[in-house]
Amino acid sequence: MLNGAKWIWTGRPTGDAVPAFSKTFSLPGGKSVCRAKLSITALGVYEAELNGARVGQFVLAPGWTAYDTRLQVQTYDVTALLRGENALRVKVGRGWYASPMPGWVDSADRRRRMKRHTALIARLDMAFSDGSAARVVTDEDWTWTESELRFSEIYDGEVCDATFADGAPKPCAAFDGPTKALIPQEGEEVREAERVAARSVFRTPKGEWVVDFGQEVTGYVEFTVDARAGDEVRIRHGEILDRDGNFYNENYRSAKAELRYTCRAGLQTWHPRLTFFGFRYIRLDAFPGAPKPEQFTAIAVHSDLRQTGFVATGHPGVNQLVSNILWGQIGNFLDVPTDCPQRDERLGWTGDAQVFARAACLNFDSERFFAKWLRDLAADQRPDGGVGCVVPDYLPDGMSSAAWGDAATIVPWTVYQVYGNEAVLREQFASMKRWVDYITAATTTPNLWTGGNHFADWLGLDAPAGSYKGSTREDFIASAFYAHSAELVVKAGKVLGEPVAEYEALQGRVVAAFRQAFPEYLTQTEHILAIHFGLAEDIQAAADALAKRIEADGTQLRTGFVGTPYMLHALSDHGHADLAWSLLLREDYPSWLYPIGKGATTIWEHWDGIMPDGGLWSADMNSFNHYAYGAVIDWLYEKAAGIRHDEAHPGYSEALIAPHSDARMGWMEASLETRGGTITSRWTCLKGAVRYDIKTPVPANIMIDGRTLKVGPGRYTLWGTGRG
Ligand code: BGC
Repeated sequence: MLNGAKWIWTGRPTGDAVPAFSKTFSLPGGKSVCRAKLSITALGVYEAELNGARVGQFVLAPGWTAYDTRLQVQTYDVTALLRGENALRVKVGRGWYASPMPGWVDSADRRRRMKRHTALIARLDMAFSDGSAARVVTDEDWTWTESELRFSEIYDGEVCDATFADGAPKPCAAFDGPTKALIPQEGEEVREAERVAARSVFRTPKGEWVVDFGQEVTGYVEFTVDARAGDEVRIRHGEILDRDGNFYNENYRSAKAELRYTCRAGLQTWHPRLTFFGFRYIRLDAFPGAPKPEQFTAIAVHSDLRQTGFVATGHPGVNQLVSNILWGQIGNFLDVPTDCPQRDERLGWTGDAQVFARAACLNFDSERFFAKWLRDLAADQRPDGGVGCVVPDYLPDGMSSAAWGDAATIVPWTVYQVYGNEAVLREQFASMKRWVDYITAATTTPNLWTGGNHFADWLGLDAPAGSYKGSTREDFIASAFYAHSAELVVKAGKVLGEPVAEYEALQGRVVAAFRQAFPEYLTQTEHILAIHFGLAEDIQAAADALAKRIEADGTQLRTGFVGTPYMLHALSDHGHADLAWSLLLREDYPSWLYPIGKGATTIWEHWDGIMPDGGLWSADMNSFNHYAYGAVIDWLYEKAAGIRHDEAHPGYSEALIAPHSDARMGWMEASLETRGGTITSRWTCLKGAVRYDIKTPVPANIMIDGRTLKVGPGRYTLWGTGRG
């Protein structure tokens, strides 16, 4: 791919300024180019221009991987951009490579990353119509200058001086870069996607100018301004207004999330190039003239995923919830699945990805996206099989938490189930086994997982005062996930035809030990895990007990990251669909719909990020774009609309369609574009009866009100007798 090219850099530290690497070259006289491709990557994030035109559409290329061992190379067709005389110019910013990530940790590893210098490697191959060829490669003949980007970094933002004149070009230095880590592009490209026009520009009670986009977006703002040379634009980003209607972004913690732009003379339009923000509001700390909405657009930037799941209902609150979940996903699927896009984290938290993986795969075609991230998970897996809490692993402490590390087994199995392609299991199988082996070696009690350091039922509503961890016993969660991960290794091995007798025996022992150690369930989450992972001896009795407990708790969730995603499944799979709907449709805190009453446009980290009295949960951990609780959408597709498959038919090669209608909704329609074709389920509640319209391209079992109908591809309309 890049043979013959050398890694180049500026040869000396350039401070904050983003360097632009350049090469000019002429085509041999009289020859016409029939094909030209540019293969390129960087340590940092790059934007390449050929003769002033942007090369490709990949924003923040080369994306984020476990850089020490895996660095993606992009290849672009640049045939149409070549001329007789050519100038190739590539800016390289710090990106994820050399930014101070994570923002709240000071470790030797972080200091090492912050100090490393950015660099470039590229090769341009040209084929001419006379059959000859030529190439341009990065080497000491390239030059560099400081660019108009005076600063760029993931957390703090970007500074651009449009009046900056490039100084004299200086020679680049070649060095022995990470050539062995180079791999072809694996993930989806990150691209500019939705453009959201500003909804309003207003002055807050404090007298500050604020622009509202009406939607929380991950990406950046583009503005147009008619200015004098030297005029300043200064912008800060925020997600909400405070109780008094003032701009607020204390919850970004140490991330400055700031843009500074020095104007040239005249009309100009600009947006940042090598960073991103999570925001709904921007505050204009400096702006020439009186700002107007038409001067601002928020550009969403995310992995280029095709939407495959669609839900519409007769309930406006649920429709907004669905919109919030979809925005939450694209806002956090920016090359890696992140916890949040705004504060000084934006990391690939494994627990968050694990709980949301199924929802993610149903909403958007995420097969490639996860395949790439899982390879990073395996690449960063520790020698003892432990899996970091974030991938790529930027945390220093070597902790492996139950339900976070289990992403190693759950995500590959989920991706396989949704898309039916064994490849992901084959690639991850060794990593899946290593994770289970890690637990076996790390536990302090054979056949259970005790000891260790865990996040528990993170942010559980039953957490004791002052703790982020819910009351569910840590050993209970860890042991339940141990059993579940062992089970997934067995299932994956059977699909692949790999020997798994050892893991099957282990799983049997863990389940038996679990039953002995935990004869009763003390919290909602304990019930949910015992039911959903098939650990309870009498699952129906556990589900009935869960239902009673929820009612005794005031028909409210008391769960956190671990219990919530499975909660509605655990109920509706065992005869408690009405209660599942009651939880989903609840509007008071705590509930999925409560934030909607408070104006949420994405999913919140806390059920009460904004509290009923308008106060804020806290300043230090209060994200308004945290997709984890959005996992509930998988219940809408699979149980409410009822579109599912069994494990023997991954990829929906056969479907089972079994809706749970509810008159409070009026109607609901969901479509899934599966690998087996597009399946649509719609129901309408009409005075005492329910009408179901089902369209399935694959052979399906349609189960409605206890009746099962085996059908071939087609469209069916059925009348049920559910509550109307
Ligand atoms: C992140 C989470 C993550 C958690 C670990 C937080 O700071 O934002 O979403 O899973 O830490 O418990």
